[in-house]
Amino acid sequence: MNRRSFLGTSVAMLAAPAAVGRAHAAEGGRPLPLPQVIDLDGSDASELVAGRASHDFLSGASTQVLGFDGGYMGPILRAKRGQTARPKVRNTLSFPISSHWHGLHVPGSVDGGPQLFIPPGETWAPELEIDQPAATYWYHSHIHRQTGPQVYYGLAGMMLIDDPDAPGAGLPSSYGTDDFPLAVQDRGFDQNGALNYSSSGPDGMTGFRTDQIVVNGAIRPLAEVPKGMVRLRILNASNARIYDFKFEDGRTFHQVASDAGLLPAPAPRQTLQLAPGERAEVVVDFSDAKPVRLLSAPDTNSPMGGIMSFMMGGSGNQPAAVNRRDEFEVMSFEVSATKTGAVQSLPATLAGAPRLLTGEPVRKRRLDLSVHGGMMGGMMGGGGGGGMTISGQSMDLNVINQEAQIGQTELWEITSASMAHPFHIHGTSFQVVNVGGKAVDPATFGLKDVVLVREPTQVLIQFNKKADKRTPYMYHCHILEHEDAGMMGQFTVA
Ligand code: C2O
Ligand code: CU
Ligand code: CU
Repeated sequence: MNRRSFLGTSVAMLAAPAAVGRAHAAEGGRPLPLPQVIDLDGSDASELVAGRASHDFLSGASTQVLGFDGGYMGPILRAKRGQTARPKVRNTLSFPISSHWHGLHVPGSVDGGPQLFIPPGETWAPELEIDQPAATYWYHSHIHRQTGPQVYYGLAGMMLIDDPDAPGAGLPSSYGTDDFPLAVQDRGFDQNGALNYSSSGPDGMTGFRTDQIVVNGAIRPLAEVPKGMVRLRILNASNARIYDFKFEDGRTFHQVASDAGLLPAPAPRQTLQLAPGERAEVVVDFSDAKPVRLLSAPDTNSPMGGIMSFMMGGSGNQPAAVNRRDEFEVMSFEVSATKTGAVQSLPATLAGAPRLLTGEPVRKRRLDLSVHGGMMGGMMGGGGGGGMTISGQSMDLNVINQEAQIGQTELWEITSASMAHPFHIHGTSFQVVNVGGKAVDPATFGLKDVVLVREPTQVLIQFNKKADKRTPYMYHCHILEHEDAGMMGQFTVA
């Protein structure tokens, strides 16, 4: 397979120094890194510097990466509803990048999509009026055909929005004490410790999946938590891997928020599926003081079927199994002997859960996600994985695919024939109302901005910010290799 370190001019600069000569150990168990938090209320310097860095994923080798502030990935940006946030992004790299605020309800002119690229040497200083529910969001580069490698090497970070009118809801909320961000990714390394990346052949078809699980930039880390209730804000920041999380001891935990806001009440779960781009906040009860590992089931999503993709040797590349079900370790938790958490019981309902959309849709749009060229086309077609389309159209920066009106409720029906795709829409949040022809209770999904589409999925959606044709919004598959190969479209809101 054609495995490349990076695209174009950046290849040489990111490759590891010449032959170190042995494989470096990918060891887990280091303490969970806690990204620095930058408050966008004006009290902290808010310049993000996109550049190259080296990062110690492995013992005995350092890995060349990209990041938004001198390391791998970027700081956590924190903003309050009602504020104007003024992040600045300086691009010190030799190629264009962007900073898309994934999940933010901001106009197309500051959304950070592919039309808003930041040329090398330039600084972008958008004003973001924060007006949406408290939740866990993120930001990442979004350059046409380069989003996959740029995010893979590290151009991504998390963003938290708080709502002063709906403070806390009785949930654990001290950052790094009983409230932890977890950006979960899979990353692969060559024998020199350099990151592997490929978007061709089977890797393009399934999306790039590989074998080491990294949380906040550390391989299978260990978090020390207090005795009591602990909130985990989980972001699937992987390029393509879908996780089915569970605790090794099968314990029940509670989901309290989805992509774009709190659920009306904590929802008990033993497993949690998160596709790329999705977030969930969960509360886990550690009052039994027992250590436990967080596991995930393997991802077999593929247009060729799971078995075929293993045989083709592409992204069948799975993390080491810890049991006969091929589940693998994501990270582990150890309970402090001395610290007791501030929250010992879960509220029955969650104050501040967002209102759901009401009103009859005035328009219906149908979008069909398609992996083209069949299996052979995809495998032989090189780079792009054979071409990916939405309703027969492949992403073209010069084409506006849809036009929407501000304030109107619409029904979007998204379908996929061959595999599941995490479908994402910019500029707003939506409600899932029907899956596979069956009505669902939108409250169980909460407000979303990514939905994994396997069966025909209907969402109710309304846009409240504008996007003109110079800086339109995007909708796309959040498997980044699919997005880069064309499974994306542009729309305006007037
Ligand atoms: Cu998270 Cu259009 O992206
Ligand atoms: Cu987005
Ligand atoms: Cu896809």
